Amino acid sequence: MRRRISKKFFLPIGMLMLFLGMLLPQLAQTGSKQAEWKTLTKGRDVFQAACASCHGTNGQGKSIESVGFKTPLPDFTDCNFTSREPADDWFQIARLGGPVRGFNQMMPAFGDALDEAQLKAAIRHVKQFCSETDKWPDGIFNLPRALVTGKAFPEDEYVFAYAMNGGLSEFQGKFITEKRLGARHQLELAVPFVVKEVIREGSDQTSWGEGVGDMALGYKLNVFHSLKSLTIVSLSTEVIVPTGDEYDDIGKGIFRIEPFLALGQIIPHVGFLQIQAGAELSTKTDRVAHELFWRAAFGHSFQRGGYGRTWSPMVEVLGAKELEDGAFINWHIVPELQVTLNQRQHVMLCLGAEIPTRNLNSADDVKYMAYLLWDWFDGGFTEGW
Ligand code: HEC
Repeated sequence: MRRRISKKFFLPIGMLMLFLGMLLPQLAQTGSKQAEWKTLTKGRDVFQAACASCHGTNGQGKSIESVGFKTPLPDFTDCNFTSREPADDWFQIARLGGPVRGFNQMMPAFGDALDEAQLKAAIRHVKQFCSETDKWPDGIFNLPRALVTGKAFPEDEYVFAYAMNGGLSEFQGKFITEKRLGARHQLELAVPFVVKEVIREGSDQTSWGEGVGDMALGYKLNVFHSLKSLTIVSLSTEVIVPTGDEYDDIGKGIFRIEPFLALGQIIPHVGFLQIQAGAELSTKTDRVAHELFWRAAFGHSFQRGGYGRTWSPMVEVLGAKELEDGAFINWHIVPELQVTLNQRQHVMLCLGAEIPTRNLNSADDVKYMAYLLWDWFDGGFTEGW
């Protein structure tokens, strides 16, 4: 009898002891690991202790076979990737985990195990895996795109812009594609499409005209960026091609060349300022005069808890003057709001209105504007919602 009972209990007790025997050292190890982490201050040490098991000591990311999950690890030594992500965004991902920005949950949250200073130091270490930070402008300079004022940061994005006047007599859609080349160059193509009310010759009735407008081809070169002064400066040139329908006054009918300078300035705790100044040079001044323009956008980005949806209210002041005798300076004010639509924050919407400061006589004089922007380098349109 006694022998039988003890035999019956022997197996489960033995199993339990074996299980505890395997688990306890593991638990003790994690406990001591976490205690060890608390003493780390240097970014490199934090990274080696907490991140290198997946991201690799050299930041290149371990292979799928060695980490045992399928999500590929990013290569932090690739400047094209590492330079363009702002450190604050990455700090939030390390603190709250991948899903906070629509990334995979295999990127864990470290907010409980590591404090803010440790995580920020680890991110600084991650950022320096790009060995050419002086060449590649940092993602912090990728300021919210204003409706009119051009940006200095070289982009990879698609923008669909839309405008209509308050009198509902003119509608314009514009598809813009921007492709970054290397650290500091960017190409751009803009294709507008216009639908508008026209009065054709020999008729006193209005009818609708529509067609492709004047396309523009652009090249941007980033000439200066400094994390010390928080400034970025670029030079651009656009060639505007007379593809538009002159008959319905949709295009200007001549080639124009538009050189301009764009500057972005971050003002800590206040916001950001973007300035664009240049000229639209006519190739036939008897038909279209040269024009000078200067534009500024001031704004501030608000983000709930430092990681939620980003709201960026902005106001632009636009000035333009044709180089003709007696031409006035045209001033416009553009209040607007940009908002990120998804968790990854790489799809954005902006709404605003361009209001003339004088000669505001009818609804026709106000232009309502919008754009939908997809920063395609950060993922597919449907990713990260
Ligand atoms: C368990 C494995 C693992 C550990 C440990 C880990 N990561 Fe990650 N991390 C990932 C994976 C997987 C991704 C890619 C997620 C994706 O693409 O959806 C990632 C992505 C990232 C990204 C890039 C997000 C982007 O913009 O693409 C950053 C930054 C990052 N990790 C930082 C860290 C830091 C800092 C640590 C240490 C404190 C750390 N990771 C520890 C697995 C890990």
